[in-house]
Amino acid sequence: MDMINRLKEDLIETGQMGRTLPRRIERYGQLDPQKGVTRPTGTEANRKIRDYAVECMKEVGLEVKIDKVGNIFGRKEGSKTNKGTVMCGSHLDSVINGGMFDGALGVFGAIEAIRRINHEGFQNERPLEVVVFTAEEGSAFRQTLLGSSVLTGKTKPEEALSMKNDKGVTLEEALGNIGYKGDFGRSLDDVEYMVEMHVEQGPVLHREKIPIGIVEKISGVAWLIATILGQENHAGTTPMKIRKDALVAASDIISFISKRANEMVVKLGTSTVGTVGKLNVFPNGTNIVPGKVEMGIDIRDVVPQNMESLKNETLKAMKDIEKSYGVDISTELPPMHMPASLSDEVVNTIDNSARQVGVMTRRMNSGAAHDSQNMAESIKTGMIFVPSINGISHGPLEWTNWEDIENGLKVLNQVLKNLSRIAEE
Ligand code: GLV
Ligand code: MN
Ligand code: MN
Repeated sequence: MDMINRLKEDLIETGQMGRTLPRRIERYGQLDPQKGVTRPTGTEANRKIRDYAVECMKEVGLEVKIDKVGNIFGRKEGSKTNKGTVMCGSHLDSVINGGMFDGALGVFGAIEAIRRINHEGFQNERPLEVVVFTAEEGSAFRQTLLGSSVLTGKTKPEEALSMKNDKGVTLEEALGNIGYKGDFGRSLDDVEYMVEMHVEQGPVLHREKIPIGIVEKISGVAWLIATILGQENHAGTTPMKIRKDALVAASDIISFISKRANEMVVKLGTSTVGTVGKLNVFPNGTNIVPGKVEMGIDIRDVVPQNMESLKNETLKAMKDIEKSYGVDISTELPPMHMPASLSDEVVNTIDNSARQVGVMTRRMNSGAAHDSQNMAESIKTGMIFVPSINGISHGPLEWTNWEDIENGLKVLNQVLKNLSRIAEE
């Protein structure tokens, strides 16, 4: 099997994991707009894809270790030093009903790049290490970029391990159930570089027909988890005047965020986005006045002050809404992920590497969040984007053409080779 076909095979094979009615999807036309992949951390599908990745890592000769929060590391020692490690990878968890490339491409692409390096007989002077971050999406444990937040010291391991999913299962239990509760203590002291290949998840590269994006900045992301408590009651007998309808209160919050984010963009020229993507309504019966609503709010911008101000205005609006509807609103604020600037050195290395392998590039920003933004706070970090058909991601119609994946891989392979050399003094 040639190299790209092996990566293609890995992505097609793992693209079945977490898909209702597992199916090998080899072409865009085979996608079902209703049925994507669902692999939150701790699910059976998440275990399967982790096991598959660990097998692949072992197959290419990597030494595999698992840390306390289930981050996976697969290491190939350097020929000249065991310091200055070049890390490369992404995540294997997914959103609910998402696409088969988000995260998986960066993990299997990294393994494939090393498989190719081995095959070519290239000697990496620095160590190369594939990394799989736990719970990047926040689809189970209420904080995005969780594994990298622990690795970079932003979140304590005990705090992460005690977080609960919607079923009340802690991360610790969930990792134990799938066999990924390790004890490796990975410090970043010996890590020099981090590289992540990812699908763009936006329309720019596809529209401009450019095969590779080199990321310069990544938007920040702030989450607010709100619980609205009203009074559950009979839909037929409870007069409108005396209701404490938690869902009506929630609908005002949703409208506020959307209107205010739009206003900021139009009037202030910001790049703010605000979304309420998650709503749990209790008890969720047509003839019951909703007594409780849980909502997940996502606020992003490349300017931290803009995120901060939409977040604070939302909290203030909630106070007014509490009064108007006689409900109680409590909020949880997981740590905010700041906008990140990626390393000029790595950006330039990606640029030069793409030129070496003859692939056209453009520089761009990322609206999506990535573990790389946590890593960028202390490690020289870069990201390689490949086009997403019609800019779709976080949905079943996410797709990237195999030629584009081959281009991304060629560039990644060259980047790893270039970064793994120790520069002559
Ligand atoms: C992760 O994919 C995010 O941008 O939320
Ligand atoms: Mn994602
Ligand atoms: Mn991702």
